[in-house]
Amino acid sequence: MPRHPFPGAGHDPLIASMVAGLPARQQPRWPDRSLLPPVHDRLALEPPLVSYASVRELHGLLARAAEGEFCLIQAGDCVELTTECAPRDVARKVEMLDVLGDVMRTGSGLPVVRVGRMAGQFAKPRSDDWENVPGGRLPVFRGPLVNGPDACAEDRTPDPSRVVSGLEAARCAVTALDRLGRGEGAAPEDRVWISHEALLLDYELPQVRRHTDSGSYLASTHWPWIGERTRQTGFAHVRLMAELDNPVACKIGPEATVDEVLDLCSVLDPHRTPGRLTLIARFGAHRITELAPLVRAVRQAGHPVLWMCDPMHGNTVKTPDGLKTRRLDAIMSEIRQCVDVLADNAQRCAGLHLEASPDDISECEGAGRSPARGPGYRSLCDPRLSLVQAVAAAAHWRLPVGAVA
Ligand code: PEP
Ligand code: CO
Repeated sequence: MPRHPFPGAGHDPLIASMVAGLPARQQPRWPDRSLLPPVHDRLALEPPLVSYASVRELHGLLARAAEGEFCLIQAGDCVELTTECAPRDVARKVEMLDVLGDVMRTGSGLPVVRVGRMAGQFAKPRSDDWENVPGGRLPVFRGPLVNGPDACAEDRTPDPSRVVSGLEAARCAVTALDRLGRGEGAAPEDRVWISHEALLLDYELPQVRRHTDSGSYLASTHWPWIGERTRQTGFAHVRLMAELDNPVACKIGPEATVDEVLDLCSVLDPHRTPGRLTLIARFGAHRITELAPLVRAVRQAGHPVLWMCDPMHGNTVKTPDGLKTRRLDAIMSEIRQCVDVLADNAQRCAGLHLEASPDDISECEGAGRSPARGPGYRSLCDPRLSLVQAVAAAAHWRLPVGAVA
């Protein structure tokens, strides 16, 4: 049995089995489910990727961010590749977070909490289960934790052994962060925290750990979030987040109703704990003003949520030849409007959630780049900002006029 580097971090089978019994959206259709139990057992015995203490430390920082002491940058790939978790890949992603963090610190005068969409951002929600291809249809690509991106049956067939490879890749990334001096034990101002969408239950549930003298936590990441497609209360993903001691986040889009958001707040933040719940608004530049009634309702209900702006997922459009892209001007416009909508309702936009790459890519339109099929367009899911574009976006985030840093 592997030794646990962090004390009191054995698997918590009670939460896992309770959540596994609930309905869940966006899970793959594994062709052979008999391959899953050994995968679950293997993951449950693995040492945790993050410690209980570090998860609580981030919770404390987010509570202080809610008080206006810090701002936040959360950024990385839409879908992280398990083949891009080597030390050199991690070093470049950290450099990108440092650059974006510097832009935001300079703009606001506030210290920055840096969070990567990394070391586990391997599973994607999709609008359709199938993709039509010449001569038939294939299971859609759900991220390297589930299947491969190539348009052939062999690659697209969900394969449970990928769940184990995913954890190994995440551990490589975590180890690389530690070796850079930016992981476990790093000074707060140097630390890079890891986050991902907690989507694939076969990956997440075995990594729910019980801490001997405290509660249970998700040891796959410091800061899990729930996506726009899996935020139904009463379903597995929200229940799982509700049971954890990690700080948690939830994406909120323009279709969210006041009642849904208040329900989410009462399930995910029942004790109104600062730092516990972050709501990430992803409305799109043309609809972000619709955020206002949700902000007012949450404030009136007394939930001390941290608000962040994801200016990416409401601004996805297609080029005339069908390539997914996003316009930098729409992204900037959503950031500016989001800051203002929150300020008009006595709340603060604590920071940005971006899909961005340290590479010189051409996936989004703007700052001298136009998306085109070819070596500059590499994302296997949503289009990311290049570093230059991400810097331009980060420069549009600011504290509202009159805020005291
Ligand atoms: C994402 O962050 O890649 C994503 C799918 O976001 P959302 O759930 O907001 O659509
Ligand atoms: Co995305």
